Amino acid sequence: VKPVSFPPVFYGEEALVSLSSWLQHKQPEGVAVLVDSNTKEACLDLFLESVEDLPPIEILEVDPGEDSKCMEVMAQLWQAMAELGLGRKSVLINLGGGMITDLGGLTAHLYMRGIDFVHVPTSLLGMVDAAHGGKVAVDVGGIKNLAGHFAWPEAVFIDPRFLETLPTLEWKSGWAEVIKHGLLAGGWLAQEVLSLKVPDASAIERAYAFKCEVVAADPLEEGLRAQLNAGHTLGHALESHLMQRQTPMPHGFAVAFGLLAESHLAVRKLGLDPGTVVRLTQVIASLYDFNGWVRPQTEDLLPWLQFDKKNRRGSVRMALIAALGKPQTNVAVSLDECRWALDHTFEQLEWKS
Ligand SMILES: NC(=O)c1ccc[n+]([C@@H]2O[C@H](COP(=O)([O-])OP(=O)(O)OC[C@H]3O[C@@H](n4cnc5c(N)ncnc54)[C@H](O)[C@@H]3O)[C@@H](O)[C@H]2O)c1
Repeated sequence: VKPVSFPPVFYGEEALVSLSSWLQHKQPEGVAVLVDSNTKEACLDLFLESVEDLPPIEILEVDPGEDSKCMEVMAQLWQAMAELGLGRKSVLINLGGGMITDLGGLTAHLYMRGIDFVHVPTSLLGMVDAAHGGKVAVDVGGIKNLAGHFAWPEAVFIDPRFLETLPTLEWKSGWAEVIKHGLLAGGWLAQEVLSLKVPDASAIERAYAFKCEVVAADPLEEGLRAQLNAGHTLGHALESHLMQRQTPMPHGFAVAFGLLAESHLAVRKLGLDPGTVVRLTQVIASLYDFNGWVRPQTEDLLPWLQFDKKNRRGSVRMALIAALGKPQTNVAVSLDECRWALDHTFEQLEWKS
């Protein structure tokens, strides 16, 4: 296993000034910025204004959306980079959400056996989750993240001003991961995400720092890092079922649902305080509106659990919290227990009649 170094993270309205200094120090032979057409429109001007004395840069633009996170687009990017004369000492700057940082990270990692890249996440999900942890990937034949690698950016630069243009739905999607990090981290962040007040911006800082701490302790996902799957087992079953039913639900909504459903299991199996679940229910019901979807049948979700990559010998394995800040990974949960938790959670939330 090759040694893994951890990239520094710069946060705040001065973060892009640090990127300028980094580029000046680095003196790359070429610089390209990867954007999708939304981040080109919403973020590129602020980026260009904030990065001082930028060397000449090339803009690489792809269509927005998960469909661009694929091998065909990656191959087009390599070709464009070669035509632009970007050599081995060039740098790729990934300016966008998790789609751009995943795609751009793998594109740079494989181009000419690997060029340096940095992430400038512009979505909340990118800032607190996707830009950290060294996982880069593309989807193949509809299977998410099928081809990928661990590849670390040189640094991550987070300027929260980018969030000003982020659509509300995307903001909510990212906030589900902040809630997850709060439940896992405990302490101040847990109280913040479980309160019904307007979120404090410093929650973002604490949320990404928590992910970085977990990843630093287990960079190649050999144990501890599995806690970051909290909410994703039942959430992913819901997301996959609704996708198949052709009424897709944003990932973050499904994660919010999963966090709630799995918290019921945590009460039953690990003795999580029921008061925490009451607060979590209030937060999720007030932030996430499930009224746009017909209530799914619990039985339709169960087959998806069989495909979950965390399963072992018939039982579903989950990351649950025994208390705020006390996650437990690899908890065996029976299908009957999943059925009970899903039924209970469907009952609690409002669905389209
Ligand atoms: N590598 C990891 O560890 C990791 C972790 C979680 C998720 N992911 C991946 O991240 C992706 C999801 O990330 P995402 O939710 O950021 O999706 P995304 O990158 O598709 O961004 C969502 C939408 O918001 C737009 N957008 C982004 N920033 C904006 C801004 N500041 N203003 C206006 N519009 C903006 C994008 O153009 C897009 O339309 C998925 O592909 C997922 O697999 C990776």
